[in-house]
Amino acid sequence: MELNGKRVVVGVTGGIAAYKAAELVRLLTKQGADVQVAMTEGATHFVTPTTFQALSGKPVYVDQWDARMPNAMAHIDLSRQADLIVVAPASADFLARIAHGQADDLLATMVLARDCPLLVAPAMNRQMWENPATRRNVDQLRADGIVVLGPASGEQACGEVGAGRMLEPEDIAEEIVAFCQPTVLAGRRVLITAGPTFEAIDPVRGITNLSSGRMGYAVARAARHAGAEVTLVSGPVGFAAPQGVDRVNVRSALEMHAAVLARAAASDIFIAVAAVADYRVANAAEHKLKKESGGIPAIELIENPDILAEVAALPDGPFCVGFAAESRNLEEYAQRKRQRKNIPLIAGNLIQDGFGGDDNRLVLFDDAGAHPLAPAPKSALARQLVEHIAQLLTGKD
Ligand code: C5P
Repeated sequence: MELNGKRVVVGVTGGIAAYKAAELVRLLTKQGADVQVAMTEGATHFVTPTTFQALSGKPVYVDQWDARMPNAMAHIDLSRQADLIVVAPASADFLARIAHGQADDLLATMVLARDCPLLVAPAMNRQMWENPATRRNVDQLRADGIVVLGPASGEQACGEVGAGRMLEPEDIAEEIVAFCQPTVLAGRRVLITAGPTFEAIDPVRGITNLSSGRMGYAVARAARHAGAEVTLVSGPVGFAAPQGVDRVNVRSALEMHAAVLARAAASDIFIAVAAVADYRVANAAEHKLKKESGGIPAIELIENPDILAEVAALPDGPFCVGFAAESRNLEEYAQRKRQRKNIPLIAGNLIQDGFGGDDNRLVLFDDAGAHPLAPAPKSALARQLVEHIAQLLTGKD
């Protein structure tokens, strides 16, 4: 629950994307946020307040003159109680109104009366988005410190294609989670490896392992949330890169090695989470091996380069962090690996605790000794790892 206890006002304005705000409210609530919905009158023509009331578990406010607030100051009370206001969708008209400080309905008045951050997710026809008046308004909002999320490009409700689509609810929720994290790695460039590697035997077969890539992707996401500029060198995995992370796809250990070494010197931190194959096939076949060709083929293996050890040996290289997945003797093996690879920090876990799943149990080993983290989802562990790295780096700066 990455938004536990956060009080979020979701403002909904009049546009067809208002139906997607229902999903946004559900996602934020699921992450533990306390969500209060406020709608413009226009928004109620697309989705009824009842939908949002059911999803947020709270009455929805539309009218500035709502008699439910005992002191008749709904705009002040609702925005004072908020840690954050997000307006999604934000129509061209709403952006224009708040760019000029207007307070002509409840939501605009709440925005004007707030003392918390405001995020807006514009949604409109592409020509409205490109109109010089909207451009001016958006520039003004940015200059006022308002965070503008998107918009995305693509098919629009009007049948046209272009910029102006609201970001998907998952992406807006992700931006809100990111916005709520302390930016302990602001300005740092972080390079991360994740997933398994695939070592070809022939064009269709290969040697790989059961790494899901989830831990590496969680670390990439946490580093980005912490304000870092993140590059993720990823072996073959079945899911999309976290929002805002630059992903480089590779397959074999040699490809991963080349992709990492090309970027390592320009990075401040290198976190090697990938389960890199120790060996590759020396005699990989150019064409598919055929059973009829007789005999059982012999697969000859040669050693792959140790990417982490090589990066750790670079003069003026990045701060290096390794992972040690062991099936027993965690402390002894992890500490030995840390010394052998000459790295300041290693995150150890027992394979039976986390390989492939959503949860994990990690112990961090550094010069000060062992720091066991309580069993938790990989997203929470990734955040603690990032905080630990930030602390060690602060000590070095
Ligand atoms: O040597 P071992 O595979 O046990 O070490 C694990 C750590 O080293 C992980 O951080 C992994 O990403 C990294 N590694 C690497 N290149 C290899 C093997 C492991 O970067 N060839």
